[in-house]
Amino acid sequence: MPYATEENLTDLALKQWEGCHSPRLRQIMQSLVKHIHGFARDVELKQDEWLMAVDWLAKTGKLSTEKRQEFILISDVLGLSMLVDAINHRLPEGATPSTVVGPFHIDDSPELPMGANVAEGLAGETTYLVGTVRDLNGKPVEGAKLDIWQADADGLYESQLGSEEPILRAIFHTGADGKYAIRTIAPPGYSIPMDGTVGDLLRKTDISHFRPAHIHFLVAAPGYETLVTHLFKKGAKYIDSDVVFGVKDKLIVEFEKHPAGKTPTGEISSQPFLVVNYDFILSKAKTQSDSQPALSRAAG
Ligand code: BEZ
Ligand code: FE
Repeated sequence: MPYATEENLTDLALKQWEGCHSPRLRQIMQSLVKHIHGFARDVELKQDEWLMAVDWLAKTGKLSTEKRQEFILISDVLGLSMLVDAINHRLPEGATPSTVVGPFHIDDSPELPMGANVAEGLAGETTYLVGTVRDLNGKPVEGAKLDIWQADADGLYESQLGSEEPILRAIFHTGADGKYAIRTIAPPGYSIPMDGTVGDLLRKTDISHFRPAHIHFLVAAPGYETLVTHLFKKGAKYIDSDVVFGVKDKLIVEFEKHPAGKTPTGEISSQPFLVVNYDFILSKAKTQSDSQPALSRAAG
């Protein structure tokens, strides 16, 4: 092998990775070498900047635990999470679009009966989420799992509240009519966690660190592509400046104001309430494994 020069280094590193056993890993590593060398050449990376980046990555790693994933947060803020999501979910016209999963999903949420209140005892504007899980032909999907999670009225998720009990998260299953009805509270917009290395970086910018008000959904049914998405509140603050690029037009919904009276779950409310009406439209699974619930990055 020739000795390294500024000119031949990229070729040498690419050749080195020819020795990778897996063709896919080889492709990924060679592309990474090409782009990371290109990046260093492009900005003429200084030695102290390189060291600062290494320190930043080390700190980011130390901060990341099962309950907190600072690396995912930087991926979100760089738009990489949404890009990977887009590449992997080229859904047919008419299917509900996916969006970023975020760091706050927790596995094994409690199973609740349709119509249940996931915000029992919590302050906030009472909100009913109602609609149908359907396929692209309009047929209701029976036995669809709806896994929902959201922030409380202060914009905090269960893992940030340090609760031992499940807060504002639950799993529901549709019946033969594909319908769902869930009682909750309306979440506000909130700041992404700013007390770590991502916050350190964002404070050096004018980038808004807020997300618009939203509720997370994972909708899974046998034979269909698993959908991980949000519903965003129409007119919410930050709807046009989501720091993680998660907003899509078709995911913006009206939180309709209703006067006191009969609610979608049949109770009589003495207070006004909000109703969000939305049908989740699933596309057929491309492969068997696509129909399996697809989250393995439980946090908190
Ligand atoms: C969230 O919506 O929960 C979220 C997504 C990306 C980064 C931070 C939070
Ligand atoms: Fe969220």
